[in-house]
Amino acid sequence: MTPRTTDWWRHAAIYQVYPRSFADGNGDGIGDLAGVRSRLGYLQQLGIEAIWFSPWYLTPMADAGYDVTDFRRIDPRFGTLAEAEKLISEAHERGLRIIVDVVPNHVSDEHAWFTAALDAAPGSPERDLFWFRDGRGDSGELPPNEWQSIFGGPAWTRVPDGQWYLHLFAPQQPDLNWRNPLVRAEYEDILRFWFDRGVDGIRVDSAAMCSKDPTLPDYDHALSPNPHPYVDLDDNHDIYRGWRAVADSYPEPRALIGEVWLADSARFARYLRNDELHSAFNFDFLGCSWDADALRAVIDQTLAAHASVSAPSTWVLSNHDVTRHVTRYGRPDTSTAAGIRQYNPVVNEDLGRRRARAAGLLTMALPGAVYIYQGEELGLPEVEDIPADRRDDPIYHRTGGKDPGRDGCRVPLPWSGTSEPYGFSPEGAATSPWLPQPAAWAQLSAATQNTDPHSTLNLYRRALAVRAAEPSLGDGPMRWLDSAPGVLAFTRGQEFTCVVNLSTTPVPLPGDAQILVSSQPLNQAELPGDTSVWLRTTA
Ligand code: NOJ
Ligand code: CA
Repeated sequence: MTPRTTDWWRHAAIYQVYPRSFADGNGDGIGDLAGVRSRLGYLQQLGIEAIWFSPWYLTPMADAGYDVTDFRRIDPRFGTLAEAEKLISEAHERGLRIIVDVVPNHVSDEHAWFTAALDAAPGSPERDLFWFRDGRGDSGELPPNEWQSIFGGPAWTRVPDGQWYLHLFAPQQPDLNWRNPLVRAEYEDILRFWFDRGVDGIRVDSAAMCSKDPTLPDYDHALSPNPHPYVDLDDNHDIYRGWRAVADSYPEPRALIGEVWLADSARFARYLRNDELHSAFNFDFLGCSWDADALRAVIDQTLAAHASVSAPSTWVLSNHDVTRHVTRYGRPDTSTAAGIRQYNPVVNEDLGRRRARAAGLLTMALPGAVYIYQGEELGLPEVEDIPADRRDDPIYHRTGGKDPGRDGCRVPLPWSGTSEPYGFSPEGAATSPWLPQPAAWAQLSAATQNTDPHSTLNLYRRALAVRAAEPSLGDGPMRWLDSAPGVLAFTRGQEFTCVVNLSTTPVPLPGDAQILVSSQPLNQAELPGDTSVWLRTTA
């Protein structure tokens, strides 16, 4: 089957595969393309329509593959280009679209451009592909400005000849200079490289950060909130207009999906104008606490911002950068659910999972596309007790452990069995998974959940099947219904209603409604706290 409509990105359920942690085909403890290929049946059965792959390119793994040495090669840990091509066509045969991750803000310090820049002289064309500058101070011993890396520490590193280069992330991720036309040409060619191989969409990493104020001014958020010298500069829009032209040059247009973290929803929407990106992740919703009024306000604001540019909204609860939402929603103080990454060992995991299941039904019922992060369908919690010497994330190491980092949401998936590697690696593999898996995960494995009708896995399968069959779900309008405090209720179309009870008090259900899916077993009369239900309601 070839995948269906051309505007699939307006409504699709998209599953994020973090290749390193999804499934290990060759037994070295690291997930790979062979592992993904062996699990395509699982993804098809889950009922998703597209797979987004976090980076699978050649990389020294200083930032788990978001430091790319060569966008046209697959990292040997993951497989080969030929295997990626097979994976793309096998996925298409199953009706699944493929989205790959492209990282325009920076490359790896092992990228040929950067090694050439290091070998070249200050002021050379090679250095102009990046942000090389002389330092301040009597002998240039101070960085060119005070910008800080998002991963902690200064955003500048000095090279042996005394110049400094900019890296908004780790030092192994030098920022590209998007004012240089070679950078533009190269990335448009990378898009073509993957589109020519049948890829259906691109996820654009750190999309709002590429352009920089070339005067590189110091920046103090408290003193001068606007304009920012490297977030959301107007030149970014030009970049994506160029990319959109590439995407639209294919007979079946390819989708561009931006990672755009901006507090201002009107500025966010500008990236979704009809000659720029097709959609972008909605992080306001992800960061919102488990609170009916707060969620309703975020939903309304999201829909309004997207409506202004006729773009579809997206809904996402977790990804490879944030604490898994079972854990966020299980924090003792609900306001901390808004913190996307923090230590707080006191977690009520059962409550968190109950809310996560309810939130899953909410997101799958909202207008637009929905993202599911691998393991979310298993109700996995964050793993918070990874020993320091097993942690890999540069955020953890560069902040001296003050920020727990992202390893806890990247632990290899449990597929089957009662002990590590839980089917992540093949039987008898000599190497254990690259991050340790908790003992309690035997209960959460896909195989265990497969046979339990009330499991989170079966809840997601049921919900995705209903969502795919229900014409009023996905893209299209929604209408709020009056509801009790702490309850969200809305309709889609004439006959579909979603009710989410975020309070602790049960609320009555309409007597004549047919229950399509519920996040907890229900009796017909009432909806308990922290529970969602989808209803068929005939007027
Ligand atoms: C956002 C990605 O999602 C994250 O994992 C990565 O570390 C940064 N961008 C830098 O590429
Ligand atoms: Ca492997």
